[in-house]
Amino acid sequence: MSEALSNGSAPILAVDEVSVSLAGREVLRDVSFAIESGEFTGLIGSNGAGKTTLFRVILGLQAAHGTVLVGGAPRSRRNPLIGYVPQKFQLDPDVPLRARDLVALGLDAHRYGIATPSRARRARVEEMLEAVDARDFADARVGTLSGGEQQRVLIAHALIAAPKLLLLDEPLANLDLRSGHEVVALLARITSEQRIAVLISAHEMNPLLPVIDRIVYLAAGRAASGTTEEVVRTSVLSALYGHHVDVLQVHGRVLVVAGEAGELADTSDHSHTQTQVEIVS
Ligand SMILES: Nc1ncnc2c1ncn2[C@@H]1O[C@H](COP(=O)(O)OP(=O)(O)OP(=O)(O)O)[C@@H](O)[C@H]1O
Ligand SMILES: [Mg+2]
Repeated sequence: MSEALSNGSAPILAVDEVSVSLAGREVLRDVSFAIESGEFTGLIGSNGAGKTTLFRVILGLQAAHGTVLVGGAPRSRRNPLIGYVPQKFQLDPDVPLRARDLVALGLDAHRYGIATPSRARRARVEEMLEAVDARDFADARVGTLSGGEQQRVLIAHALIAAPKLLLLDEPLANLDLRSGHEVVALLARITSEQRIAVLISAHEMNPLLPVIDRIVYLAAGRAASGTTEEVVRTSVLSALYGHHVDVLQVHGRVLVVAGEAGELADTSDHSHTQTQVEIVS
């Protein structure tokens, strides 16, 4: 561990001037931000904004220009400092993998091969099942669980090896409001209890606002980062999108309305073409 890390001054994740081109198109351009231990950060962007691509860069799975430091060291594959909950997870109900088996596999995620079961290992699995309130369905097949139950098991799977940085790619996408709240509350509790940093992606920031410390907002391949107050502003988001964006307060919530490029030249309110609308509380 470097000196900078041991005195807590280095960010757990530092993304500096990252650019990615895929199939001849620049998906990410000069994306820079940093995350400190214990921080809960929302990675917000609409479909195709580059959220999954950015996760793959951090995980060392996607070639990129620029620098990514994880715990002060260059990014690498199978980094034990990182826990990851991918966007897509589908398991057939017939697959005989119980929730507790999937959680246990998280202990082997950064190693090659599977370790033999041990008492310490079983105790750690129980501890994680408890931490995510999954003991009631610990022996059920993962493929038979509801979306919210699966998310909790996947979070336990990602956390069991005690990472310092937890990446979650749209974990709320298929959850109803209540399950979403439960998962967010669970993550907020784990972040503060274990002093880990969480980067969670979503296309809708509303459910995350009560708990996120910071936001990384992706649009047009570029990122704006800071506190929600610093980023979710007409001036900042307009500069990011490259055209005018309204940030409106409605009944204590914020509505972000992004019109078409060129709209600035048009003064008619009725001409707005809404390409993106987000409700933010
Ligand atoms: N392997 C690839 N080859 C070519 N283009 C790709 C590849 N992977 C992603 N892209 C493109 O890069 C852009 C960003 O994709 P990405 O999956 O990172 O977006 P996202 O923000 O995660 O979107 P969503 O909210 O839909 O998950 C998209 O336009 C996508 O089509
Ligand atoms: Mg994605």
